[in-house]
Amino acid sequence: MNNDQPLLQPYRSENLNIPNRVVMAPMTRSRADNSGKVPTAALQGEYYALRASAGLIITEGSQVSEQAVGYINTPGIHSEAQVAGWKEVTQKVHAAGGRIFIQLWHVGRISHPDFHNGELPLAPSALNPKAKSYTPQGFKDTVTPKAMTLEEIETTIHDFAKAAKNAVAAGFDGVEIHASNGYLFHQFFSGTSNHRTDAYGGSIEKRARFLFDVVDAVKQEIPEGKIGVRMNPSLNGIFGMTMDEESVPTFDYIVNKLNEYDLAYLHLSEPFNDVSDIPYAETEIAKRYRPIYKGTLMINAGFDQEKGNAVIKRGDADLVSFGKPYISNPDLVERFAQDIPLAEWDDSTFYTPGKKGYLDYPVEARETQEV
Ligand SMILES: Cc1cc2nc3c(=O)[nH]c(=O)nc-3n(C[C@H](O)[C@H](O)[C@H](O)COP(=O)(O)O)c2cc1C
Repeated sequence: MNNDQPLLQPYRSENLNIPNRVVMAPMTRSRADNSGKVPTAALQGEYYALRASAGLIITEGSQVSEQAVGYINTPGIHSEAQVAGWKEVTQKVHAAGGRIFIQLWHVGRISHPDFHNGELPLAPSALNPKAKSYTPQGFKDTVTPKAMTLEEIETTIHDFAKAAKNAVAAGFDGVEIHASNGYLFHQFFSGTSNHRTDAYGGSIEKRARFLFDVVDAVKQEIPEGKIGVRMNPSLNGIFGMTMDEESVPTFDYIVNKLNEYDLAYLHLSEPFNDVSDIPYAETEIAKRYRPIYKGTLMINAGFDQEKGNAVIKRGDADLVSFGKPYISNPDLVERFAQDIPLAEWDDSTFYTPGKKGYLDYPVEARETQEV
C-alpha cells in the first residue's frame, strides 16, 4: 500500500470534505439513448457507482434545456423524467459511499439545426465555429448560429438556475458550470466568437458577464459552496475556439473575479494541445492561476499518478481530475493506492450505446484490496 501519496490525502475546505484528491472528470458517454434523454440506474447509475471511491465524481455534460443539446444521446437535467432518472443515479452513488456533482451544459454554436427542428443553434454572435457537430446522422459541419437576443440570454440564464434547482431535487451534492471547451460560456468569453456590442460583449468585463449572471442566478437555487466552475483558458484550434491577445487577460479577469464567490472549486484544464508557438497562450495553467485563485483549485488534462502527486506536492493545485483513466479504471483510487498498472481505454466505445466499453472494464484492485 502506498497511502502517503498527496493524491490520496483527504481534502477539507469550508465547502468540500472529501476522502482523497482524485476527481472523476466530466465525460460525455452518449448512453442516454432514449427519446427523453433520461439517465437510468442500470446504465449511468451502475457506471458512476462503480467509481464511488473517487474523492468526487463530476458527471458528463448534461444539457440545461432542449436548446442546449449538441450531441446525440446526452442526458438532460430539465425534464421531470430526467430528474427522476438522475435521482436513481445519485442514490446509487451515495449508497456506494460516493459524492457526485452534475455538469451543467449548453453547447451554443457547436449544436446543429438537426437537433432543433431545423432552427439555428444559439450563440453570442452569428459566427460559424467551422467545427463538426455530432448529429443523429453522424458528423456534420456546423452552421452560422443565430446571435442571441437579450431575451434569449435571460432565458438561458434562467435555464441554468432551473437546472441547478433540478440538480438539488435529484440529490446531487453540487453542480459544475461548464464554462469550458469552446461551448456557450467560452463563446461569450472570446473576442473571436463574441462580436456583441451590448452588455454581453465589447470589453473583457462584458464578455465575462454571462458567466457571472449565471453564477448569480444559480446561487439562488443552490448554495455557492456547492457550485464549481470549469474553464479551459488555453483551448485553441479545438471545438472552433481561437485564442487572441485578449484571451489570457480575459481569464485572468474571470479567475480574479471568481474570488468574490465562495465556490466549491474552480476546475481548470492545462492546454489540450501544444500552444507553445502561440505567443499569447499560457502554457502552464495551474502555475499561472494557483497564485491568483484563492479557493479550491482542481487541475485537469494529461495527468497520471506521478504527475498528479507532483502537482499537489508543488502546491499548484488542490485536486486533480482524471478523464480517460477513469473510463477504463473504475477503481482508479485503489489502483493508485496499490500501485497497480492502469487498464487501457478503448476510444472506439467512448460514445457508443449500451454496456460495452461502459460497464465492462474490470475492477481489479478492489478485489485484491486488503480489508
Ligand atoms: C469521452 C470524453 C468525453 C468528454 N466529455 C466532456 C464533457 O462532457 N464535459 C467536459 O467538461 N469535458 C469533457 N471531456 C474532457 C475531459 O473532462 C478531460 O478534460 C479530458 O479528457 C482531458 O483529461 P484526461 O487527460 O485526464 O483524459 C471529455 C473527454 C473525453 C475523453
